[in-house]
Amino acid sequence: MDSAHEARARMVDALRRDGRVRSDAVARAMGAIPRHVFLPDSTVETAYADSAVVTKVVDGVALSSASQPSMVAIMLEQLDLHPGQRVLEVGAGTGYNAALMARLVGAAGAVTSVDIDEDIVVAAAQHLVAAGYPDVLLVTGDGALGHPAGAPYDRVVLTVGAADLRPEWVAQLAAGGRLLLPLRVRGSQLSVALDLGADGVLRSASVRSCAFIRLRGQGAGDEQIVALDDGGWWAEPADGGVPLPEAAHIRTALDRPGAETPLGVRLSAADVWDGLGLWLALAEPSTFRLLARDAAAGSVVASELVEVGGARATVAVPGAGGFVAIVQDDGSPARIRSHGDVGAEPASRIAALVDAWVGAERPHSADLQLTVAPHGSTAAVGDCLVELPSATVLVEHLRPPAA
Ligand SMILES: C[S@@+](CC[C@H](N)C(=O)[O-])C[C@H]1O[C@@H](n2cnc3c(N)ncnc32)[C@H](O)[C@@H]1O
Repeated sequence: MDSAHEARARMVDALRRDGRVRSDAVARAMGAIPRHVFLPDSTVETAYADSAVVTKVVDGVALSSASQPSMVAIMLEQLDLHPGQRVLEVGAGTGYNAALMARLVGAAGAVTSVDIDEDIVVAAAQHLVAAGYPDVLLVTGDGALGHPAGAPYDRVVLTVGAADLRPEWVAQLAAGGRLLLPLRVRGSQLSVALDLGADGVLRSASVRSCAFIRLRGQGAGDEQIVALDDGGWWAEPADGGVPLPEAAHIRTALDRPGAETPLGVRLSAADVWDGLGLWLALAEPSTFRLLARDAAAGSVVASELVEVGGARATVAVPGAGGFVAIVQDDGSPARIRSHGDVGAEPASRIAALVDAWVGAERPHSADLQLTVAPHGSTAAVGDCLVELPSATVLVEHLRPPAA
């Protein structure tokens, strides 16, 4: 057995142990496709580590990568591919995921993969030939439009982050098909598998947390994140429809920490981002994410935020004259801290929402049900409607069945 083969087998074993790979079909595909062939500039060790590998950077911005194997596995499980199916992927990247999907759908199926950059498509084509999958159809184009020439597809999958449910992706789905995409929902990126029902309604079959490079081209949407200073503090609104308070106001309030409300719970980074953070953002669209990077990440204020992807981060809710934010020292329970002249009301309102989250057994992204709702839909208390540019999405928290 060569070293790449052994490294791949170890990667698949670890992904199985962690519950990322659940099915034999995905295990076999990940055990068969040589990821290192899709990453010719990386070592075998890097190719089989559980990390994303950035493959194209322009002006300091990562434009393409081979996604983290854990995430690839999670999405392949969500996709639930079967022999003979026709698949459209938006975001060919290295071609690795396209090869996995080609293996899963077999010779009777078909995989088309679109990337917006010609150089990426050229390289992906070389990798796919080298790995023995020359039949994947690669297309250079803006995947916001899908690839109508090959429609309908049993599966449409994006491996790049979207802020909208483009009608083109839905229109190119076959009856009973599944659309899987990393979708921005109130500041969290969620990998959502949406099934097209016989009634024409898309309902989620599963939701997972994820973190993907953003879509470019005509579906890119507006940049949401705002620099608060040039020292590394950033803020990002949960809902693009609810503007952030002025950057200078947030920055000033940041330097004026005040009263604290203990919460009596300890929070993981995942809780802050896609558990409690998402719960607050769904209930309070004005919620924003506060991030400290670079120099700011080493500051005293940032030391009380959780670590998310190399930055320090938290969720905050604005009020007149300032904001309140969730903070937590190492080893101690979380608190709500008021910044600026925000008064007592926002902290007590947010504390009640935290209590409700704890009372609901600390739900996370996987506990959400998304339904693409007709316009004018109403939401029950605790659920909410999220307006995307092309669709309204009803987001509900799954509840245990009534006894
Ligand atoms: C995370 S990478 C995809 C990883 C890939 N599936 C793999 O297995 O290596 C995201 C890719 O999406 C591409 N992309 C970004 N915007 C796009 C668009 N509008 N249409 C098609 N591809 C796009 C990027 O060029 C990048 O290669």
